[in-house]
Parts: sequence; C-alpha cells; structure tokens
Amino acid sequence: MAKKALDVCLSPAMFSRHAGSEKVVVVIDILRATSAICTALANGAREIIPVDTVEEAREYKTKGFLVAAERDGFVLDFADFGNSPYNFTPDKVKDRSIVYSTTNGTGIINMSAECSMVLIGSYLNFSALTSWLIEQDRDVLLFCAGWKERVSLEDMVCAGAYASKLISSGTFTTICDSAHASMDLWDIAKDDLMGYIEKAAQRSRLRDKGLDDCIGFCHTFDLTSVLPVLKNGKLIPASEL
Ligand code: MLT
Repeated sequence: MAKKALDVCLSPAMFSRHAGSEKVVVVIDILRATSAICTALANGAREIIPVDTVEEAREYKTKGFLVAAERDGFVLDFADFGNSPYNFTPDKVKDRSIVYSTTNGTGIINMSAECSMVLIGSYLNFSALTSWLIEQDRDVLLFCAGWKERVSLEDMVCAGAYASKLISSGTFTTICDSAHASMDLWDIAKDDLMGYIEKAAQRSRLRDKGLDDCIGFCHTFDLTSVLPVLKNGKLIPASEL
C-alpha cells in the first residue's frame, strides 16, 4: 500500500495553502486549548461548541449555555470559567454543552472546518489518536495553533512527537520541511520536555499571569483515549459519530 502523506502547518498564517484539504486535520494547541478540550470530553462533556468571537460567546451565555472563554489568558467577565483544563471537572461539565472561545485555538478549529475532517490532538490523547491515524487510509495535516499567527514551541514540539510516531509506524511519509523541523525539535526536547518548554513564550505568559499550574498536566501522555472530532460545528467524541 502507498504510504500516506504527512504535513505540518506551523501557524494559521501558513494555512491558506492547506485550505479545503482532503487530509485529516489534527489541531494542536497544547497550552491550553486542545488539552482543555480533551479533558472536557474525557470528563463527560456532551459537546464543545468552538466560537470565534467574544460577542458570539456572550450571546450564547444570555441563552443559558455554559461558557468557557478567555482572551490573552484572562477569563472573560461573563464566562463561567476560563481555559485551564483543571476547570473542566466532571461536576461542571458532565453531559453539558460547552461554548468555548479562546485567543487562538477555537478560531483555528473553525478555520479548519472547511477541510474534510478535523480532530483535536494533545499529549493527553496521544496514543489513541496516533493509533487511529495509523489505521486510517488518509493523509494527515498537523495544524499548530501558535500564538497570534506566530509559531509556538510547545505546539511544534508536540507536532514533532506526533510526526515521529506516525513516520515510525511505516505507514506515513513526508516531504514537508515543517514536519522534519518538528521531528528534529522533538528529538531535542523529548528527554527533558519540561526543561525544554521553559523556553516557550506561552510558558512565560502563563507564568506571568499565575496560570501555569497546568503545564505539567498539559504535557502528560495518554490520560484519555478520547478523540474529539468536529461535526456540524461541534466537537464530540469520535465514538459518537
Ligand atoms: C488559545 O487557544 O489561545 C490558548 O490555548 C490560550 C490559553 O490557554 O492561554
């Protein structure tokens, strides 16, 4: 069987070349959106509705929805809570629809919606998602959210972990320089992931705001097997497709 193609997009500023792709898109925003989404669905949330703007999130709140929303790390004043995965506890999210709006991640999820399939990747669901991708007969694009169109080290390192796993399965190949760069970065970072992530700008931003208690959690492998997938504008577990 021909090998599947693997690409990495390091920033939404580079996404136009991939728009409308038939590839499976895996959105990666480790600090913290995609880690929070995996946590929420793992803890029993029924669905997550990613919205781009503060206005949309506010309107959903007036309609009675549970709303998780932040900008630049700060919880919006009308929201029920912000973007730490620790907020998405079973007592708050079980069986709930959650409207979700973040600085970068949710916009990137909606930007990807024009591609044929969109999944959410993190370390938390790493083995489940890489195993699933290896089984499918589909090309894959790993889409790093970054920060305001800039590259984020923590997303690139995670894309490198995914890319290394997929390539080493023997079922994928790549001629994408962003994929090779990500895999090289993973090789540099993997033996001291927490030490390497100290360099990341988002790590500093979260520390400066006192929001960095979840850094270790967001870099923990395989706490869940949930595969969040976008369907009709909502993220649901792939098991419910
Ligand atoms: C985002 O989606 O912009 C980030 O994950 C923001 C954050 O959690 O600080």
